[in-house]
Amino acid sequence: MSYQANEKGYYGDFGGAFIPEMLYPNVEELRSQYLDIMKEESFQKEFKALLRDYVGRPTPLYYAERFSKKYGTKIYLKREDLCHTGAHKVNNTVGQILMAKRLGKDRIIAETGAGQHGVATATVCALMGIECIVYMGEIDIERQAPNVARMKMLGATVVPAKSGSRTLKDATNEAIRDWINNPLDTHYIIGSVVGPHPYPDMVARFQAIISEEIKIQLKEKENRENPDYVVACVGGGSNAAGAYFHYLDNPDVGIIAVEAAGKGIQSGESAATSALGKEGIIHGSKTLLMQTDDGQITEPYSISAGLDYPGVGPMHANLFRSGRGEFISITDKAAMDAGLELAKLEGIIPAIETSHALAIFEDRKFKKDDIVVINLSGRGDKDLSTYIDYFGL
Ligand SMILES: Cc1ncc(COP(=O)(O)O)c(C=O)c1O
Repeated sequence: MSYQANEKGYYGDFGGAFIPEMLYPNVEELRSQYLDIMKEESFQKEFKALLRDYVGRPTPLYYAERFSKKYGTKIYLKREDLCHTGAHKVNNTVGQILMAKRLGKDRIIAETGAGQHGVATATVCALMGIECIVYMGEIDIERQAPNVARMKMLGATVVPAKSGSRTLKDATNEAIRDWINNPLDTHYIIGSVVGPHPYPDMVARFQAIISEEIKIQLKEKENRENPDYVVACVGGGSNAAGAYFHYLDNPDVGIIAVEAAGKGIQSGESAATSALGKEGIIHGSKTLLMQTDDGQITEPYSISAGLDYPGVGPMHANLFRSGRGEFISITDKAAMDAGLELAKLEGIIPAIETSHALAIFEDRKFKKDDIVVINLSGRGDKDLSTYIDYFGL
């Protein structure tokens, strides 16, 4: 059994494309062409060149000595925070802007939560001289102000989403609405491994560069390609999908997914989708979803804007249900403490999303000679005011 998507875009029971008829031509155009386009030699050449010269890849695999010592195991950090624009999101937007150009699109829309995907999209649109519209929840516009400013400076239009919890889910609804109204000239750059097929598979393939590099770098450093565990935080699940991709079907590598427990799983204010979710359909994909008994989506909550999504990508829903992945929920408090700790021990200020992955070591113990790779998905500049207010620094 494979943990990759099958040709219909299913991971086990999850995935597929559950879309309104009006969206069908857009999604079908992409579905029927994405694999062929990605296989083209000229596409791969351009993609790899931009990842190298523009994004700054390969990102380092850094042995975190003081952090390792503290927790009695061997911890490596995959430094996606050092990508241009400060997070893994740009791997996907570089891929998708090249895809959009080959599909002949000249208008780009995107949704964003933490603003990292919005910035990464605005960046590649500036690079290519293409119009860019980013939908963002009103709450997120407030708490991620530095990224809103960056998007504006890059020439993007930021449109506030004012419905629901005014966060990522609502921004995604607005973007889908826009796409239905502009089917011909517009490509929707989804920022995670969510949405209808082919998005989860396409985004995972663009992010797969992360585990492709980990294999090479670990071989150089430890003379083995496989860590014992690969750990990543999960919002929609794209940085995790990239970090797991080349290890998915290798049972020697443990997969650990870290979700946001917010104020506690049972508090009513969380985004711990695997713990709380039931099967349902969100944004065109069948997956695990936080919902009430009668199927209304529960408003998610997390201190991190990039993790408060009520669903999870279908790859991750399948990793959870099949038992292939180990899922851990981390509270706001534990995440914030871990972020501060990494800053003090290693001189690296992580994004609050990433801090969730760093927080597992208080409870989850590893063997002394285990090799644990954590995907350091982003840097914390965008979160400085949240850290400072939280700790009264
Ligand atoms: C730094 C960082 N890490 C993680 C995430 C979560 O997204 P995903 O689960 O798709 O990697 C985000 C989302 O904005 C982010 O900005």
